[in-house]
Amino acid sequence: MPATLVPVGGLSTEQVREALLAATRAPSLHNSQPWRFRCTPSTIELHADVDRALPAADPDNRELLLACGAALLNLRLAIRGLGYYPDVRLFPDHRRPELLATVRPRGHQMASPAEQRLIAAIPRRRTNRQPFFDETFTGPERDALRRAAEAERSWLALLPPEQVPTLRQLVQQAHFLQQEDPGFVAEWQRWTGRPFGESDGVPVSSGGPLPEAHDEWTLRDFTAGQGRRRVEGKDFESAPLIVVIGSFHDLPPARLQAGQAMQRVLLTAIDHGMSASFLSQVVEVPETRRKLRTLIGGGLWPQAVLRLGRGSPVPRTPRRPLEDLAEVTDVEPEA
Ligand SMILES: Cc1cc2nc3c(=O)[nH]c(=O)nc-3n(C[C@H](O)[C@H](O)[C@H](O)COP(=O)(O)O)c2cc1C
Repeated sequence: MPATLVPVGGLSTEQVREALLAATRAPSLHNSQPWRFRCTPSTIELHADVDRALPAADPDNRELLLACGAALLNLRLAIRGLGYYPDVRLFPDHRRPELLATVRPRGHQMASPAEQRLIAAIPRRRTNRQPFFDETFTGPERDALRRAAEAERSWLALLPPEQVPTLRQLVQQAHFLQQEDPGFVAEWQRWTGRPFGESDGVPVSSGGPLPEAHDEWTLRDFTAGQGRRRVEGKDFESAPLIVVIGSFHDLPPARLQAGQAMQRVLLTAIDHGMSASFLSQVVEVPETRRKLRTLIGGGLWPQAVLRLGRGSPVPRTPRRPLEDLAEVTDVEPEA
């Protein structure tokens, strides 16, 4: 049952609250926030909230696991920021597949300066669907993004400019296939174009400009038609930095791992003054995902596609209150 929070391991109640709030700042498909937390005296458990699954866009909960992986990385970093070492086990109980991870704060250990910068990026990160400034990114940013994915045992492909037109076509193909599916459209309409003041879903204020027929990229309209028009003819940046986050296999642990990698890449981008948005259509439609897999070499599984650049600030999206998604119990998870 939902309850007032309690201390976990060496963390005080206030520190547990701080760590959980950081976890919930993670991105999630349509801002569905498909996670729950259960606090025992020693452990914070991360559970998938399958009642918040999006069966039309994400029928096998792949993106649900990416979002939960992102929440897990934030939780790990927040615990480091509080001076503890997070002892993490993924899928610790095969009889309870919705229990994605247990995190035990152990022994004192200060966050490194690099970790502190990522922790500072957690509240500043948001999905930016606006056009970015035209800028070419060379060595340092690219290396940092690649290393961020590798640090989480995943992998990042920087799409070379000659592959970008093919990706654009795949995004368009996926978009049209999804728009022909009434189930997808109905789900989309339920979760996007939300008025101000709701605690989940994508609010109109976070949508990008209205998609137009002449646009180079086929982007989704998150504003239920209420977005602003761009200056006629002014499209998105001409040479976006596109990265694909991939995993070495496509089973749930790899997806959860890729979610942590995705979040480390997003926070690293913020730390380098960059913003990001997603091009997920292409990995949601099996046919285009297969083609993307071939495009980037064939060996690895594309999990998330990000468009990165430098942009103007955008507003925060809302989050559900902790009381709705955290519970406490005296029952420890089995070791
Ligand atoms: C797995 C995943 C897929 C996503 N796909 C898209 C997408 O295709 N297009 C998009 O604009 N945003 C996408 N998002 C971003 C979410 O809509 C966003 O995280 C959510 O609305 C919360 O907003 P925030 O990221 O600003 O905190 C995706 C997020 C995740 C985690």
